[in-house]
Amino acid sequence: MITILDQLQQQRVLPVIQIENLDCALPLAEILINHGFSIMEITLRSDIALEAIRRIKKEYPQSVLSAGTVLTPEQVNAADQAGTDFIISPGFNPVTFNYACDSSIFMIPGINSPSDIEQAMQQGATVLKFFPAEASGGVAMVKSLTAPYRDIRFIPTGGINLGNLSDYLDIPQVIACGGTWLATTEELNQYQWDKIEDKIRNTRQFLNNLINK
Ligand code: 3PG
Repeated sequence: MITILDQLQQQRVLPVIQIENLDCALPLAEILINHGFSIMEITLRSDIALEAIRRIKKEYPQSVLSAGTVLTPEQVNAADQAGTDFIISPGFNPVTFNYACDSSIFMIPGINSPSDIEQAMQQGATVLKFFPAEASGGVAMVKSLTAPYRDIRFIPTGGINLGNLSDYLDIPQVIACGGTWLATTEELNQYQWDKIEDKIRNTRQFLNNLINK
C-alpha cells in the first residue's frame, strides 16, 4: 500500500496554501494537480480554509489534503470532518498530537529543537515538520539534528524557495520541503494565475532536473 509518506517522498515539495478567497481554491488546486502536486497543505489561518478543503476534496478526490496550522483537538476534528487526509502543526503539542493519534488521524507535528524532537519521539512521532526552517538554523541545523536522531524524518518548512530547496532535499532524512513560494497569499488575492502557474511549472521542472541529475 502506498502511504501518504511514500507519496510525499515522491512529490518532494509540499505546497503550503494560505488562502483567503474561496474562489481561489479550485483554480489553484487544479494547477497544482496538473503539475504533479496532488498533495497540498491548506493552513487553517483563515475562516474559509475548511470550506476550501471541502471543495477541493469534492472536486478532486484524487488530491491528498493536509490541514496546516492545526493547534487544538477541536481543529483536528474540524479538519477531519472537512475531508483532510492528514494534519500538520507548526509546533509539538502533546495534547493535540495524542488526540489525533487516538482518533487514528495521521499528524505531522512541528519541531525546531532537540528537546522538541525528544518529546515528539516519546509520543511516537517519527516524521516531523522542521519549522521555521530558515529562521531556526536552516540546512546546517537539519544536518546537526539528523546526527543524534537518525530515525527521524524531516519536512523543513519556512523560508524555503528554489534558491535553497536542493540543499535541503540533498539531506537523506528530508522527505520533502514545504512552502508557500509556489503561490503566496498576496498573489492569490490578486488572482495572478499566470505568475502562479509559472512558479509551479518551474518548481516541477526544477524537481525533474534534480531527479535526472
Ligand atoms: C507554514 O505555515 O508552513 C509556513 O508559513 C510556510 O512558510 P513560508 O511561507 O516561508 O514558506
